Amino acid sequence: MPTTAHIITNARRAGVAVLAFNVPYLPMVAPVIRAVREQDAFALVETARLEWIKFAAHSAAAVQAEFAKWNQPDHVRLHLDHVPVIDEDHLEVDYISVITQALELGYQSVMVDGSRLNLEENIDATRRVVTLAHRAGVPCEAELGMVMGHEAGPTLPYDELFESGRGFTDVQEAQTFVQQTGCDWLSVAVGNIHGAVSGAMKDEKKVEARLDLAHLERLQRAVGIPLVLHGGSGINRECLLASMKHGIGKINVGTEIRQAYERALKASSDVTAAQEAVYEKTCWLIGDHFNLAGTRQLLTS
Ligand code: 13P
Repeated sequence: MPTTAHIITNARRAGVAVLAFNVPYLPMVAPVIRAVREQDAFALVETARLEWIKFAAHSAAAVQAEFAKWNQPDHVRLHLDHVPVIDEDHLEVDYISVITQALELGYQSVMVDGSRLNLEENIDATRRVVTLAHRAGVPCEAELGMVMGHEAGPTLPYDELFESGRGFTDVQEAQTFVQQTGCDWLSVAVGNIHGAVSGAMKDEKKVEARLDLAHLERLQRAVGIPLVLHGGSGINRECLLASMKHGIGKINVGTEIRQAYERALKASSDVTAAQEAVYEKTCWLIGDHFNLAGTRQLLTS
């Protein structure tokens, strides 16, 4: 079986991406995997620390156990998404313990998010995690720049954010960061934002984000490793499809499938109906929205 690192590199070379689906509720794991298999695609199932703290994924161990029940190794891998060094509520996180535990559980790739630190501190934290991950034989994703949206409280209007380029990943810093950390994949900020996770905003439709494709192209030339697009829900579709031709090898999708699950559960109080809604939304995302149905062979060869 090809490694996850190999698969993401294949994606980037072929100008397509591997979707990574966030699972804030354990019953979402089965329908996501079923959809990926039925679309003959390849994807990651991922969970972030905030999904077991703010939603009902429970723990990295609980997600791993659920994943193991439904795993289709030809179609999916398990990824640990955002383990922040400083979290969205400005609390310090014992990120080394969280990531060490996930590696022991058999997570097949991990992410450390030092984006709330200054460059030097982010490099130090990321380097520590890269060492741990590589020792376990798995790739490490890191983040540079600010992909907004997870923070509670008011944010800058999106258009202002995009026009000002505030928080965008700096090209020179990205080059230094990748050289000095040895990270395998880099999450970048180029106009993408995360769906909100706090208060009433978490139920709202996300603003349609755009991507600065020229900036993305400069980043890919500077770093030479696969780039990751966070905030994959609700991005302008032309920008999304183009991003895969400009270095994006992995795209994280959370809000769209979370809201499909929550809405169906609220309407029916039936977990099976909510799982069906996730299945249908995931099929639509893979096939109709991202044009990635039938890419398994290409990605895993
Ligand atoms: P969305 O919830 O906006 O799709 O973003 C998901 C994500 O980037 C998780 O890391």
